[in-house]
Amino acid sequence: MLQKKGDFCSGEELSRELRISRTAVWKQIKTLREKGYLIEAAPRRGYRLVGLPDRLYPEIFTVGLNTSLLKGPYYHFMKVDSTNRALRQLAEEGKPQGTIVIAEEQLQGRGRLGRSWHSPPGKGIWISVLLKPPLAPENSACLTLLAGVTVQKTIQEVTGLETGIKWPNDILYSGDKLCGILTEIKAEMEALHYLIVGIGLNVNQGKSDFPPELAKSSSLKIITGQKQDRHQLTTALLQNMDNLYRLFLQEGFGAIREMWKGKNITLGQKITVHRQGAASFSATALDIDGKGRLKIVTEEGREDTITAGEVSLNPE
Ligand code: BTN
Repeated sequence: MLQKKGDFCSGEELSRELRISRTAVWKQIKTLREKGYLIEAAPRRGYRLVGLPDRLYPEIFTVGLNTSLLKGPYYHFMKVDSTNRALRQLAEEGKPQGTIVIAEEQLQGRGRLGRSWHSPPGKGIWISVLLKPPLAPENSACLTLLAGVTVQKTIQEVTGLETGIKWPNDILYSGDKLCGILTEIKAEMEALHYLIVGIGLNVNQGKSDFPPELAKSSSLKIITGQKQDRHQLTTALLQNMDNLYRLFLQEGFGAIREMWKGKNITLGQKITVHRQGAASFSATALDIDGKGRLKIVTEEGREDTITAGEVSLNPE
């Protein structure tokens, strides 16, 4: 029916094609309506799909998706504590690379450095992807940067907005945060078992949807002045991530590093480095190394490389 959107399909046709009884067709139509699909029924003509629900059902966003690595299985929740947490559980049960959890709402969305992530229902894309790259754990930051490039590219393609990436992977527009990415790994000293890339993209929030402490956050709707199609964004996001991840596995980090550098707003800037449990300090961001780490020079002229933590851009 999704492929035939807008065309009538008789109950008889559906029953024949799906090899189910007319009563079963009727029951399925009822279930779809309950899920939010707008289905018109007309005597003698049958049923017609006239509207899709604004819910990120995999059966909708996978239409037209052509991925070779991120192929699911897909899990959609109306509410979940955290998609990263739910995916970790699935990973522990042995689910394959490419498993994806997506939710309309997160009750305990997790941010970087122990912070929480505000995830109101139906307004954003709260998604986690399971990856199992053959990498040493110390190289996992490359995937964090890859995720940032994925989101930057997706926003550009779908909305035309040019956003910037702040190391490691915050997506900003005019200084306001549109997207955060939380990468979590399970690893031993030598071996990376799996990596969970959790993406939180603010799509259709209005200003009043953000609590006061998130005054420096924004959404695609606020910036463009238009409600955005979350299905289209999700399809593009997964397609771009699949393409970039394949490129990474075939050719290494080089090309992704260049893409990241082309869209970054950190390098060459004066920054403050914040690390958990340590004092903040000022520095200048110099470059990204081959492992996705940030090279800096402190005010005292000491060069260093940062793997974790957060940087803020100092005002000019
Ligand atoms: C940040 O602090 O900037 C990272 C935020 C990451 C939020 C996303 S939303 C989907 C996934 N599930 C979570 O609990 N967190 C990440």
